[in-house]
Amino acid sequence: MPNILTLLRATALAALAAASIQGAQAASISISCGALGRELELCREGVAAWSAKTGHEVRVVSTPHSATERLALYQQILAAGSSDIDVFQIDVVWPGILASQFIDLAPHVGQDEVAKHFPAIVENNTVGGKLVAMPWFTDAGVLYYRRDLLEKYGKQPPATWQALTETAREIQRAERAAGNERMQGFVFQGRAYEGLTCNALEWIASFGGGTIVGDDGKITVDNPRAAEALKLAASWVGDIAPQGVLNYDEEESRGVFQSGNAVFMRNWPYAWALAQAPDSAVKDKVGVVALPRGGEGGRHAAALGGWQLAVSKHSAHPEIAADLVRFLASEAEQKRRAIEGAYNPTIPALYKDEAVLAAVPFFGSLYETFTHAVARPSRVTGDRYNRVSADFHTAVHQVLSGRAEPRSALQGLERRLSRVSRGGRW
Ligand code: GLC
Repeated sequence: MPNILTLLRATALAALAAASIQGAQAASISISCGALGRELELCREGVAAWSAKTGHEVRVVSTPHSATERLALYQQILAAGSSDIDVFQIDVVWPGILASQFIDLAPHVGQDEVAKHFPAIVENNTVGGKLVAMPWFTDAGVLYYRRDLLEKYGKQPPATWQALTETAREIQRAERAAGNERMQGFVFQGRAYEGLTCNALEWIASFGGGTIVGDDGKITVDNPRAAEALKLAASWVGDIAPQGVLNYDEEESRGVFQSGNAVFMRNWPYAWALAQAPDSAVKDKVGVVALPRGGEGGRHAAALGGWQLAVSKHSAHPEIAADLVRFLASEAEQKRRAIEGAYNPTIPALYKDEAVLAAVPFFGSLYETFTHAVARPSRVTGDRYNRVSADFHTAVHQVLSGRAEPRSALQGLERRLSRVSRGGRW
């Protein structure tokens, strides 16, 4: 047993070491973190742990909720060559757009550590042989449902979108008749932004209508199945979904669901931790399953999302910034974030971790959903992905708001994308 003197000596030595880091070479860096749900708080905690360990100071900069707005902000900062932000939290669809602005992390992180992560994400984050970003958390769309309400009305979680439509309509009607006039059948992300691209890709892929642009670069979006999917989705607005859904992002849908006013919600896993929080009106009343199939012949399709950490090439302290990235992407930190915030780890081993599974049971039951999520066509469209997504969600939004018919909207979209792609040569 170490005696008290040895302990005191060890503590004094540790304090001295920290002080000397601070005195000699303490740096000040900054990181941009998302602020959806508990994201910012969890980022601050992780960063504080690293600061305490290294003596470096970190400024945490929060960014807009909307991925679309966040990208625009990043592009401005990076195009100006600004060193204001050292570490960027970037979306899974951005490596191809922003690759030239970031350093290669491979030499900083080390082969063994990189190899712990899902190979597909590492590959996604590697552009022209350069590891542009470290995987931080992955994401996939899931269906939240009110277990108590489904039980009350003798319903099962829906296996198809058609079944969801019927169950939502029936429960919405009955609950409203019983005095809960604010009850909605289904809420999702219907605003014209990147979130709608994810939702609509799920509908279309689940009907067997493809992924907008195929892996070979061919534009596939103008097809009858895609039109059928959009037709059904448009029928929801003003029926099982409020008109306001046309302006909802993730947080707005969560607000409605978490206050007890929706039967079903499409969202990402982060909403689980908040739905289960002590102040949530739906605590212990929620189930999570895979998103429905597009009819009997369709498939379950969850959009692949997720966020990575990258170091700016304009950073004045790239090595220190890379060390922060390494710490935040580590197994211990991903485990903490999974348990506290339901952020999906990018390290497969954590999906077998008992504490993680106890906190978020569907990380186990929906493992396939997370490993087989459907990617947006960002790989093949490269730095033109943002145009593709913007054209896509604009067209879908027109259909949802009744300003265009699915077929003509998709035809127009295909023509526009063909111009963006210069005839399929991305
Ligand atoms: C989530 C996903 C991200 C996606 C965004 C859209 O944050 O992780 O990949 O782009 O939602 O709103």
